[in-house]
Amino acid sequence: MIRRIAILTGGGDCPGINAVIRSVTKKAILQHGIEVIGIEDGYEGLIHNRYRRLHFEDVSGIITMGGTILGTSNRADPYKNPTLKGGKTVFEDVSKTAIANLKKMDVDCLVCVGGDGTLTIAYQLLKDGIPVVGVPKTIDNDLMGTDVTFGFDSAVAVATDGIDRLHTTAQSHHRAMIIEVMGRNAGWIALHSGAAGGGDIILIPEIPYDINLVAEKVKDRSRRGKRFTLVVISEGAKPMGGQVVVRRLVADGAEPVRLGGVGPVIADQIEKLTGIESRSVVLGHLQRGGIPTAYDRALATSFGAGAVDLIMANNFGTMIGLQKGSMVPVPLAQVAGAQRKIQPDDPLLLAARSVGACFGDV
Ligand code: F6P
Repeated sequence: MIRRIAILTGGGDCPGINAVIRSVTKKAILQHGIEVIGIEDGYEGLIHNRYRRLHFEDVSGIITMGGTILGTSNRADPYKNPTLKGGKTVFEDVSKTAIANLKKMDVDCLVCVGGDGTLTIAYQLLKDGIPVVGVPKTIDNDLMGTDVTFGFDSAVAVATDGIDRLHTTAQSHHRAMIIEVMGRNAGWIALHSGAAGGGDIILIPEIPYDINLVAEKVKDRSRRGKRFTLVVISEGAKPMGGQVVVRRLVADGAEPVRLGGVGPVIADQIEKLTGIESRSVVLGHLQRGGIPTAYDRALATSFGAGAVDLIMANNFGTMIGLQKGSMVPVPLAQVAGAQRKIQPDDPLLLAARSVGACFGDV
């Protein structure tokens, strides 16, 4: 018998989180008469016992809002929580406190909305006896067990708009314009926005590039009378035999590496190797902000409703996923610690190659 559930949103934010909070809360209240507790700032709120009741009115009118009304943290981790001691960051296991707080909230289940970090922690909580259900959230689209995550479509829309804007100025000035997009170690945003924006060169982490082949493509376009080139590069792209460009190390993060900066690096290389003037833009967090697309709002609503169905079926330890058009439960064990990457036979990858996009490998 489910009477009361809690929900938290963890990791980097993305458009559509509020649509999930709304969907879970409204369905729980309307269909099942269940109370909903919103835990603030992800696992940080669980560790420090910060939460509030979510009433129907609290989630009314939030479907269009970006970000998360509950706040989030991509540092807090009950099993490896960063704490400053004597001027140094040490990682402490505070899971007993977090679990005791959850017990005090008197909830029958915890809904964790997040990416691989958040859902890996959810899986640990499950192993410690907490009934959890996951919802797949990330602009990176790199979670196992679901064909797509919410937030991805919105990020691709922003990136594609960026490419479209660079297209016209690239044409006017006869330049190579490089746009760096997010995605961590998966190239989904670069592939989809690159294909949608007509990128001439698309560089993704899954396919290490040869800078000479990239330069050759730019020169080839120039020889054929195309006086500009659009390069879409994923922040996690790296040269053959080389390394990713790290923007910063977050000392108090369980996942310390923040990628970024490969765009400006490759712009300089292209200019040197081709003699064609180049400019770069790092799109950054613009991809994570703002209102969700209609697709993401609908997907987030389905995920939220599906998560409540999993709870009512006592199907704990699972994440709601979208597979071949259907909402399905996916064991968290399959999601935790795994990443979904672009495969060489990905249909869009093959289609982009077939219309002449260069991936820096041939
Ligand atoms: O995982 C989402 C994401 O936006 C990645 O694409 C990016 O590498 C990272 O988060 C950026 O993290 P932060 O917000 O800590 O800079």
